[in-house]
Amino acid sequence: MKRVLTYGTFDLMHYGHIRLLKRAKSLGDYLIVAVSTDEFNAIKGKKSYHNYETRKKMLEAIRYVDLVIPEDHWEQKVDDVKNYYVDTFCIGDDWEGEFDFLKEHCEVNYLKRTKGISTTKIKKDLGM
Ligand code: CTP
Repeated sequence: MKRVLTYGTFDLMHYGHIRLLKRAKSLGDYLIVAVSTDEFNAIKGKKSYHNYETRKKMLEAIRYVDLVIPEDHWEQKVDDVKNYYVDTFCIGDDWEGEFDFLKEHCEVNYLKRTKGISTTKIKKDLGM
């Protein structure tokens, strides 16, 4: 059983997220998604439209996702990889190189972002 881990906020779920999750799952057999909590987003200077519980429930309803866990600080990744027996970490290539320090614990993959869509764009287009 190959276990895959990814991180994100996943607010206003869109097809860029779905494509990322589909490809993440295809890297292994079991996909864990660590979702930024509302408190962590505040630290990052972000505010999501949907709260953590709603974003978690929506992710849990997606067929590619096996487990959703909270991300509440920047330093938890190595512990998550160890505690959840993760084989492969992945994230969009907007983070290219940022998480290479995990390579001593698991594989690290940067997946191509889907062009033309983001939560920020949806909010802007809707005047939110
Ligand atoms: N992602 C992607 N393609 C997109 C948008 C997001 O592959 N068009 C990926 C990101 O690279 C990340 C995951 O989806 O691995 C969750 O990204 P998140 O930051 O929650 O979504 P964004 O739409 O990028 O949100 P924002 O505009 O607030 O940064």
